[in-house]
Amino acid sequence: MKPSETFNNEDSNSSQNPDFDEVLSTRLSRRHVLRGAAGAAGLGVLSATGLAACATAGGGGAPLSSLGFQPVAKGLADAVVVPPGYRAQVIYALGDPLSASMPAFRNDGSDGDFGNRAGDHSDGVEWFGLGADGKPSRTAVARGLLAMNHEATTDEKLTSFFIHTDGGTASLPRPAAEVDKELMIHGISVVEVQNQGARWAYQPGSAFNRRVTTMSEAEMHGPARGSEHLVTKHSPDGMRVRGTLNNCGTGKTPWGTLVSGEENWFGYFHRDAQDDERRKKDRQVQALNRYGRKAGAPSRHGWESAGSADAYARWNNGALGASAKDDYRNEMNSFGYIVELDPYDKTALLRKRSALGRMGHENATFARAQAGQPVVAYMGDDARGEYIYKFVSKALWDTADANAANRLAVGDKYLDQGTLYVARFKSDGSGEWLPLALNNPVIAGSSYFEFKTEADVAVFTRLAADAVGATKMDRPEWGGVNPKNGEVYFTLTNNSQRNASNVDAANPRAYTDFKAGKEQKGNVNGHIVRLAEARPADTAFRWDIYLFGAEAGADRSSVNLSALTDDNDLSSPDGLVFSPATGVCWIETDDGAYTDQTNCMLLAAVPGRVGDGGKQTLTQGDKRVDTFVGKPQTTATLKRFLVGPKGAEITGICETPDGRALFVNIQHPGENTKMAEVSNPAKYESQWPANAGYGAGRRPRSATIVITREDGGVVGT
Ligand code: FEO
Ligand code: CA
Ligand code: CA
Ligand code: CA
Repeated sequence: MKPSETFNNEDSNSSQNPDFDEVLSTRLSRRHVLRGAAGAAGLGVLSATGLAACATAGGGGAPLSSLGFQPVAKGLADAVVVPPGYRAQVIYALGDPLSASMPAFRNDGSDGDFGNRAGDHSDGVEWFGLGADGKPSRTAVARGLLAMNHEATTDEKLTSFFIHTDGGTASLPRPAAEVDKELMIHGISVVEVQNQGARWAYQPGSAFNRRVTTMSEAEMHGPARGSEHLVTKHSPDGMRVRGTLNNCGTGKTPWGTLVSGEENWFGYFHRDAQDDERRKKDRQVQALNRYGRKAGAPSRHGWESAGSADAYARWNNGALGASAKDDYRNEMNSFGYIVELDPYDKTALLRKRSALGRMGHENATFARAQAGQPVVAYMGDDARGEYIYKFVSKALWDTADANAANRLAVGDKYLDQGTLYVARFKSDGSGEWLPLALNNPVIAGSSYFEFKTEADVAVFTRLAADAVGATKMDRPEWGGVNPKNGEVYFTLTNNSQRNASNVDAANPRAYTDFKAGKEQKGNVNGHIVRLAEARPADTAFRWDIYLFGAEAGADRSSVNLSALTDDNDLSSPDGLVFSPATGVCWIETDDGAYTDQTNCMLLAAVPGRVGDGGKQTLTQGDKRVDTFVGKPQTTATLKRFLVGPKGAEITGICETPDGRALFVNIQHPGENTKMAEVSNPAKYESQWPANAGYGAGRRPRSATIVITREDGGVVGT
């Protein structure tokens, strides 16, 4: 397992949920079931209508016909490799100043003031255009803001060792000075970038530049706001929250703001071994365990150990005081949300949208907003055996809201009230979205967990999803909506615990692969599932598996089911973003399974549609599993576009509206470096981006690159 995987692999879903659908006996109302069935029956006709609507609504750019570049070979070079005819330029990296008065990043561990510098582990990123007048623009291509997540840090034991001079303190207690840096290096940044002719450059002095960190004041919105679950010493009325943490994937709302998913936040908290006993009848004990915070488990960085000041004490979520108003037993409940930020307004606080549920959020991707219809967002919960969700707004879309001046007020309108659903995949290729709300009798009458208020569902979402019998998936990462036909894609990155006894139609593979002679088991290379709905707000869908990750040489009847070759084989798909300009589906990998052969990569795909392949029966041990496999891939439909530097994951991706500049985040190069070698560049696994001519020092840095075509053309086509 690669170091950054450690925190994605908590096995906290011990629910007895079926991995396939036969067993479930829901008590959903007859009306709900009938509505689902009617939706499925009408699917063909309505899909055709939906397609026509997309085309006339300006589905974005010329239709995609081919991938016009030479595939990049797999490789282990410590470099970003792109096809001939393309340029990749580093423009923004860990530590870069976000104000004109900040000194340049020395990159030797001595730098401070990360509240005014780029954060670490850049992940999801979105483009927000600026006109020449400095006002928001949907069409600007030469000047814009990149709003991006800074998910985590490169760690060994407790310390983020590359940002401390000698690697820092890998034991408890952690020194406050080290923790102060680590608290500020997580979160989100907004940075202005400009096309300066031959080059792009970020603007250190831009008034738009902004950092949001674990300590930034934020607003809780939706059902959890003011609930008992958010009462802390800092917030006796449950109204105030601070910070955002482990921000992973991103999305862009139809009204032009950023949404960001808080993913592996639970690992940053600690409660002592006696905490379950101390809480006794508190139903939160069940929730704490379900969310991966077992009593006595160490926290990722030991931030709680740095002193009694509030900034450190808040990371101890044990019930230590007389009541919730005297301690931070509830602090963990203020993380795990989709958060919304207006990148154009640095005075506006981040808003946590609790109506979209609390989980290990990867990203949120929006269906095309249609006048008079609800706004719909799809989301994955990335941990082994977790679920896929969607949110359907109560308010119906008013096209005037697309260009409103108060963008966060529009967010309040669509994201604070609505219905959250979780997906159940059936073995016949159909599926159902199950509502997580008190008007669902399965939730209201659950004996598994007591749901009394909508805040209970918003905060303990995983338990609600367990209660309705959602399908356990192979680690749902990014979702993306195909702008050409509205189909919804989800990467399922891998699952080492998938085996012959728990395979199902939608997670059908369990096999053995070898890496440097060592066995790896389960769904080693991951897959991508896709869903078709007649309308985004419907409760019925059809699904198939668009793509199976595999090594080119693997058996084509059981593992390499998408017929991948050396030009397009991949492992552990993670980021998945459709280009609004071209319709290209960009697929990024976060892999530890195929890394003996190749570094992580970015591929470009011309996707088909649900049902373009067929039913296939796989044999897993003595078990046979029927699944639905998309059409086999060729180099006309899937090609490798980029291979990253050593130890790096390829994370976020976005582009200018003309598709001529593609921004890609390169996360944690050199993550397999040992802390003991922090002062010995010769021993670093990677020296990127210093070896590409960017910045001081030789410590590897997470960074943003911009990719353009030498002839100025549209990228990927
Ligand atoms: Fe942050 Fe699931 O990747
Ligand atoms: Ca292998
Ligand atoms: Ca990810
Ligand atoms: Ca991942």
